[in-house]
Amino acid sequence: MLFIGGAAILLAVVGLAAWAVWGPQERRGWLAGSSTVWAGGVLFPAIVLAALLAYSVTLPARSGAGPPVRIEVVGERWWWRVRYLDDTGTVIHASANELHLPAGRPVELTLTTADVIHSLWLPTLAGKLDMTPGHVNSLRLLPAQAGIFRGQCAEYCGGAHALMAFYAQVHPAAEFDAWLAARRQPRAEPGDVVLRRGYGLFQSSGCGACHTVRGTPANGEFGPDLSDVGGRLSLGAGILPNNADTLAGWIVDARDIKPGIAMPPFPIFSGDELHALAAYLESLK
Ligand code: CUA
Repeated sequence: MLFIGGAAILLAVVGLAAWAVWGPQERRGWLAGSSTVWAGGVLFPAIVLAALLAYSVTLPARSGAGPPVRIEVVGERWWWRVRYLDDTGTVIHASANELHLPAGRPVELTLTTADVIHSLWLPTLAGKLDMTPGHVNSLRLLPAQAGIFRGQCAEYCGGAHALMAFYAQVHPAAEFDAWLAARRQPRAEPGDVVLRRGYGLFQSSGCGACHTVRGTPANGEFGPDLSDVGGRLSLGAGILPNNADTLAGWIVDARDIKPGIAMPPFPIFSGDELHALAAYLESLK
């Protein structure tokens, strides 16, 4: 709507300018009249801007029916903490670096930061909005159609700012409900011997001091929640494909991939151990 309106106004202004330059002398005198200047320079912009203001402030009220899906996103250096909330504000699923959204249903993102100013920008779905220390900002959006959309931190937040991206996956509404419900089911035991070995290494190597895996003793809050890490579209906040190989590389030396992050290098595992650990993480969906 803004593009069409802006294009129409631009064409009108260019047309008037051309008229002023090349129009017949006797007919273009009216352009210089004070009533033309008042109408075109004051009245017209005032009406257009007032209409745009009314359009934008009433946008939330018109963005879909029903209560919004509420998701809390916290900016961290340099990743995104994501929590899905129910109507009472209780966390029903915790994740990181990825948003799952329902198509055709309003979504309210509550934006805060754990450290410096970040800015959540999902250009296909909404404008950017800062995450400011000491403030809670709210971003309403209405995803129109299913798909995968890339987002990015849009405010310089230190060394790895450019590597602070994410994906938003918009599901058909029923599929979103099923996705969220599945995240709340009890976790199955690791299925085979490799996964069990990976699970044992994860628990015995101290990973759980910083990371949570729902349904296990790992309940660290410092780093990203890994309960569904294997199901995410990317690794390292939108910077790597997510598979057993990149997971293994990340464990060995994440700072080589993303300098300055809190995740320390773990060059302590043998090849077999690394394989088991990565396979276990990849199995977490
Ligand atoms: Cu976070 Cu830039």
